[in-house]
Formats: sequence, C-alpha cells, structure tokens
Amino acid sequence: MTDTALRQAIAQVTETVALGTMPVVRTFFDEPTFTATHVVHDPATKRAAIIDSVADFDQPSGRITHASADAVIAYVRAEGLSIDWLLETHAHADHLSDAPYLQQHLGGKIVIGRDILTVQGVFGTIFNEPDSFARDGSQFDRLMQDGESFALGSIPAVALHVPGHTPACMAYVIGDAVFVGDTLFMPDYGTARADFPGGDARTLFRSIRRLMQLPDETRVFLCHDYKAPNRDTFVWETTIGAERTGNVHVHGDVAEDDFVKMREARDATLGMPRLILPSIQINIRAGHLPEPEGNGTRYLKLPINVL
Ligand SMILES: [Fe+2]
Repeated sequence: MTDTALRQAIAQVTETVALGTMPVVRTFFDEPTFTATHVVHDPATKRAAIIDSVADFDQPSGRITHASADAVIAYVRAEGLSIDWLLETHAHADHLSDAPYLQQHLGGKIVIGRDILTVQGVFGTIFNEPDSFARDGSQFDRLMQDGESFALGSIPAVALHVPGHTPACMAYVIGDAVFVGDTLFMPDYGTARADFPGGDARTLFRSIRRLMQLPDETRVFLCHDYKAPNRDTFVWETTIGAERTGNVHVHGDVAEDDFVKMREARDATLGMPRLILPSIQINIRAGHLPEPEGNGTRYLKLPINVL
C-alpha cells in the first residue's frame, strides 16, 4: 500500500534518475562512533545539506572539540557550497551532534522530525530537566512531518517519518538518494536496535517495508556502519534493491512476527551505547549544551540506575 508521501518520494526518485539530476554526496566517517556524516549538494546550484554531524567528545575529560566538523567545513568551503539545511535523522544515542557549530560557521537551518517532542518529553523526565528546557522542539529551526517537501536548489526533497528505532526517526529523500538514519544498516549487517525508550521493533519493521517500496535504484545512505562478518572495510552506501533482496534481518521474504522476535531477542542482549547519556542530553537540545551553572561551567548528568 502506498500513501501520498511515499508516492511523492517514488515519483521524485524516478524523475531524478530519468533527468540525470542526481545530487552529489560526500561522506565523512567518524570511526570512534562509527557515524557517517553526509554532505549532499545540487551540482547545478551548489545548494547543500549536511546530515548527522558529529562533535568529538572525550568522555574521560568531558572535553568537546570540533576536528570532525572542521573537516566538513573545509570541504564545503573548497567546493563553494551554500548550506541550506543541517538535517538530523533522529536524536542519536551514540554521538553528539555538532549542528550548532556548523551553523555558526556555515549557516543553514537545523531540522529534525516533529516527534522530537515525544523524545524531549521522555528524556526531559529521565534527566529531570529544569522548566527552562523547552519540550516543544523550539531548539530546532524546523520540525518536519511526514510528507513535508523541501529542496536543495533545483533538487526536490521530501521527509518521511520512519519511527521504530526511535519514535522521531526521519528519512530524508533528496533527489534519488534516501538518508535513512538508523532505520536500516548495510544488507550484510541488518538493522538497528529498537529498545530505546519509545522504540518498537514492529514499528521499525513497518517503516522499513515502507522505505522498501522506493524504486530499487534509490541510493541509500546510512548513518552508521560497523563492518560485518567477512567484510573488513566501512561502507555506508547501498540501494533499496540491495536491501530488499539481501538485508540479513529484513529482506523482502522476512515476516513481520519473525523480525520482531529476532529483533527483541537480540536487543535483550545489548548493553547501553557508550555515549548514550551525554549524547541524548545534547541532542534533544539540537546539539546545544545545557545552560551553565552559577560558576559558569556547563554540566552533563549521569542518572543512576535509570536506563
Ligand atoms: Fe541512532
């Protein structure tokens, strides 16, 4: 069954391929967090978006630096790109976003899915955030809903809500490329966990099946790669066709109940991500740090025995 937003995305991919107006994608891979940051641009107009940036965080010292973002900035400047969008696929639990730093240097609007409000509510309670922490998404410049259109210069784009890994996950379809966040991993690795607060394996399965209705030739860009058995290099690009026919967890013949059983059993064995507590506190603020305390220092909290 196809819905209006999905039909729009399918038509957009088909037309982009037919016209040969594909966006250019350059990826920066952060090995400490296994995160792929994508810079995608329209070669005709040089308008661009940066998807899922990474701030370098040294947990033992509590120090945040920006070498990863500086490499992205250098590329953007060398290519003469104009940044319109700083897109977050979701509130990541394994790395800190550096969107505000990129915005300061390059401009662009910081965007996340509308359901970040749910995530802010849940984690606002977990971290006992003060009333000054708004739970209305106002830290972001724009909240996108399912089916919302935007553009990179002459290249059309549409946002799809793909909950499951988290309730607020978005996939951004830009020209013929879909940036899926953690909704899918490489075919030989499978899928992401669905056991964070607000996550749900059945919902994830349905979001993936929706994405798999995109044309087979749709380029798929992932947020993470961890290598895989028999593969010794990091890869972050595949196609919808390759996912549909070959994803080890969720290829086209896998039944919903079997996926849910597999995913829930696997998730039960996983420990929390190394950086979940600092990451979430920063990322629900659109990458901004918590307000400083009376001595001028900013702090992150460590709730005991909560997660
Ligand atoms: Fe994630």
